[in-house]
Amino acid sequence: MDIFSPRKSTLKSNINIARAFRYSLAMNLCSKSRIYELLPIVARINPDQNRLLDLMSGNGFISQYFGNAFLSVDALDKTTKFYVGSKNTNHVLKCDAADECIVSKVSKKYDHIISLSGLHHLLPCASSNIESHDTMIDYRTQCLTRWKSLLSDRGRLIIVDVPSIHQVSWDFFPYAPASTFPLIENALQSVGYFEENTFISVDPKPTLFFDQFVDQNSITPHTAHFETESSLSLMLESAGYSNIQAATFFTPWIFDNTCQAIWFFHQLFGIGMKTYHTPDEIPQDLTSDILTAIRKFLGCGYTETGKFWVGWKLFYLSGDQSL
Ligand SMILES: C[S@@+](CC[C@H](N)C(=O)[O-])C[C@H]1O[C@@H](n2cnc3c(N)ncnc32)[C@H](O)[C@@H]1O
Repeated sequence: MDIFSPRKSTLKSNINIARAFRYSLAMNLCSKSRIYELLPIVARINPDQNRLLDLMSGNGFISQYFGNAFLSVDALDKTTKFYVGSKNTNHVLKCDAADECIVSKVSKKYDHIISLSGLHHLLPCASSNIESHDTMIDYRTQCLTRWKSLLSDRGRLIIVDVPSIHQVSWDFFPYAPASTFPLIENALQSVGYFEENTFISVDPKPTLFFDQFVDQNSITPHTAHFETESSLSLMLESAGYSNIQAATFFTPWIFDNTCQAIWFFHQLFGIGMKTYHTPDEIPQDLTSDILTAIRKFLGCGYTETGKFWVGWKLFYLSGDQSL
């Protein structure tokens, strides 16, 4: 028996909590920087009298901006300590999204389940060294099948995630903000609507950013496996969803200035062992490392209104409960 293992596991759990705390700190103070990620979801949901499950909710970014328009909101995450969410959140469930017993643990049905930037963390073993790709496909298809049982007869699952490096195609971004979601409109107004042309030459590679920068520089390794639009579409099909729709969009993050962006990246991704509470505390070498990685993997620049943008890209998949 390894007599050190209890200590090691406490240490690991403390680091994971610190990482989740830093993520939630960044999101609590700067969530509107990510507001463009929510626009493609607007086109696929109908909140009227409906119940929402924010799956792999983190601090509740989805609930925070969509929740108030729904009849009720529940959230589920393996770490619920930092959930903020929305006023009408009923229930925050601490549970593994891949739990074989998730259906009995949740024991409710939802009209919409939305999972944002969580799926890449769902792995059949603790590391991303998957022996066989088939194992991953089976594992994720089983999760999707269980989640389907959490949907009402006319329910819809929406999965949004970072696309694998193997996915090259993406669509452009022609959304009008929806008045059903005043918080989203307010956030869009404060970050400023962007001009399509501002970003035209950029092809962000968030997967490489995770694999080649976050994984080495974060307080916890970034263990993940990324899907493409088409690989996940096939899994949704195997899990029995109907009316599957897929698209990938450029979803830039918008900041008041470069310093705010550097601070957000420092906290959200847990970059650097020491945590700095304000942008001006961050030392020059850390600022320079983060900015170099942003330029190399994501692309960045200034909008016409002087905001600082960083490139980001997500796929959006939805599938309906087929009844
Ligand atoms: C990148 S964060 C995204 C959080 C939030 N949806 C957002 O967009 O800000 C991923 C979240 O998935 C959660 N998570 C990772 N693996 C999980 C699992 N197996 N079961 C439940 N939650 C999980 C993490 O705790 C974390 O809160």
